[in-house]
Amino acid sequence: MNETEFSQQRLQTALSPRPVRFYAQVESSSDIALDWLRNGAAAGSVVVADEQTRGRGRLGRSWYAPPATALMLSVVLRPSAAALVQVSMMGALVVCETLEAFGIRNVGIKWPNDTQIDGRKVCGVLPEVLWDGDRLFGAVLGIGLNVRIDFAGTPFEQTATSVETVLGKSIDRLELLTTLLERIDDWTARIESYALFDAWTERLTTIGQQVSVNQANGVVTGMAEGVDEHGALLVRDEDGALQRVIAGDIALGSSNGD
Ligand code: BTN
Repeated sequence: MNETEFSQQRLQTALSPRPVRFYAQVESSSDIALDWLRNGAAAGSVVVADEQTRGRGRLGRSWYAPPATALMLSVVLRPSAAALVQVSMMGALVVCETLEAFGIRNVGIKWPNDTQIDGRKVCGVLPEVLWDGDRLFGAVLGIGLNVRIDFAGTPFEQTATSVETVLGKSIDRLELLTTLLERIDDWTARIESYALFDAWTERLTTIGQQVSVNQANGVVTGMAEGVDEHGALLVRDEDGALQRVIAGDIALGSSNGD
């Protein structure tokens, strides 16, 4: 591991003129970004952390990676209210594009926004929106990408992977970060276009799979037939009814769980 891989100075020089804040250790990069957004951060401002002590995941989970083994960032965005659903799609999509730019194949999205390589999770995305009453401040896109976490011998060996494990060589996380931010800038400029929805949909590996989805009112089990324009998953349940699932975790096959 390169001890000086990330520093405020290195990130600032590489990403200039983008506003950037680097933390060797922080509770959550997304907390910092949300505060920054509340205080007027420009779109594109980014918070990068080498370690988080209270990292947040989807569905109220915590998210942790050992120091300097992941790319953990939170990007300030200022989409219109109509484009908030696309923020989540964009997160998973830009990670796919970045991994492909590094030569990784078999990259796909497990609905709604987990990026997987060969069916193993490599990245999670946490979009958060900041409102003041009915006034939209903006959004923060939190991204946690496994770069050099060794899952061998852990309970996650079959379900998670890291960029360096797949590539079989070490890489500079700054190169990954730079590519990721370029992809975010590119899609942000056309966040409301159908192209984003189409690109996200094309990469969904969940469509055509038998799934089981946890919902507040129970578990929906059936065939994932597609998504609607809001990104909701359309599942044909065992009674033949089409269920619209707007959030939740899916398990492939008929069993329930993560
Ligand atoms: C998930 O898969 O549940 C989403 C994980 C998102 C983790 C990232 S790491 C950077 C940002 N800061 C956080 O506290 N969470 C997100």
